[in-house]
Amino acid sequence: MRTTAHISKYLRESKHSETLLVNQLSINRANNNQQIFKFGFGQSPFPVPVEISQALAESAYRKEYMSVQGHPPLREAIVNFHRIQEGKNWQSDNIIVGTGSKILLFCVMAAFEKAEVLVPAPSWVSYEPQAKLAGHKVSWLVTSFADKWKINAEQLTDFCIKRENPEIPLLLILNYPSNPTGQTYNSQQLFELAKVMREHNIIVIADEIYSLLNYKKSISEQGYSSIVDYYPEGCIVSSGLSKWCGAGGWRLGFIHIPNELEGLLNTVIGVASETYSCAPTPIQIAATKAYQEIELADNFLTKQTKLLDEVSQYCTEKLTEANINVHCAQGGFYLFPDFSNYTEKLSKIKIKTSEQLTSTLMNDIGVALLPGSAFGMDKSSLTTRLAFVDFDGEQINKAPMPSPQFEKIKLGIEQLCLWLSTL
Ligand SMILES: Cc1ncc(COP(=O)(O)O)c(C=O)c1O
Repeated sequence: MRTTAHISKYLRESKHSETLLVNQLSINRANNNQQIFKFGFGQSPFPVPVEISQALAESAYRKEYMSVQGHPPLREAIVNFHRIQEGKNWQSDNIIVGTGSKILLFCVMAAFEKAEVLVPAPSWVSYEPQAKLAGHKVSWLVTSFADKWKINAEQLTDFCIKRENPEIPLLLILNYPSNPTGQTYNSQQLFELAKVMREHNIIVIADEIYSLLNYKKSISEQGYSSIVDYYPEGCIVSSGLSKWCGAGGWRLGFIHIPNELEGLLNTVIGVASETYSCAPTPIQIAATKAYQEIELADNFLTKQTKLLDEVSQYCTEKLTEANINVHCAQGGFYLFPDFSNYTEKLSKIKIKTSEQLTSTLMNDIGVALLPGSAFGMDKSSLTTRLAFVDFDGEQINKAPMPSPQFEKIKLGIEQLCLWLSTL
């Protein structure tokens, strides 16, 4: 059947190619028994705590569907957990549980007939395709290394004033700590942004999937702060088990929608009902335990953030010494190295785009990075995403916890710096 002409042109030509190319090159190297430094794919290296896996094993017999909105004890546990950990003032009736936060982000976008989706560049790879799949226009707010890859209130005001169709709802996606940059917003920045959001009636989707992996926990330490503290009435928050609990493959996420966004909560539940029906029952039971065991989570989080912080600092220091522009991560798994100080030297070997840079690094030294263009950066910006999780996450379970071991990452960073020194 000739289907090509009828398949979405956007999806056929989507940016998958950019990440797949690095994957393909790494498979080729692996097949040739050549070394690979896996800085491309960023999933949690830490094992799910045994108590939580045990809860999953014990509930495997549960085969019934659960309510679309999610198991009530799980929603209660989520609300309580985020109140204790982050001071969130939520009601469980406003939580929807789903098969990962990703599908819930899409359900929110799909709930709008027409919207303009605004994303910072760089941003996580899936926002743009999701918005386009939902039939929305996508606009970008470009950020820079000097601004630590963050948008600011002035820029947002300017965008709002110049909008072509201000009557269409504007959905702004803010993700902190960020994938791909590792940066997060402080209270002052969020306060300033909230003023603009309120003035221009912006609906904010705060993607807080990495918020529990903030290296500094409290606001007083310049760590965790949320836009929902300053703009609760217009703010949807998403999170889940994937990052802080090391359980990406369990597919368990949630979203909080405030009552002030009239009609949205029920519409999103409707979209969920017509698509995934409910998150898997055994997973919801195990997730209830994960969110109830506050002390267990606290210990787990302290060990994870200590290790991640140390790895991030090591990589940042070495890369900075090699004259790469990079900001130390404040949370999560990623750095966003910018090679623009090497523009001239790289252009001499015909590297003029981030994609050419990442393919060459893979081919020459087996270092897998993702190109900045996959995250909405201009093709010519020599930016990349480096995921620093290629280490054994089991080490946090040793008692006492040894000093962090991440030899493979050290070797990969060394190779990268050496390669640059030969240009
Ligand atoms: C920024 C960001 N948002 C959302 C997600 C999706 O997470 P989940 O596993 O909850 O669908 C990811 C996962 O990679 C992510 O990096």
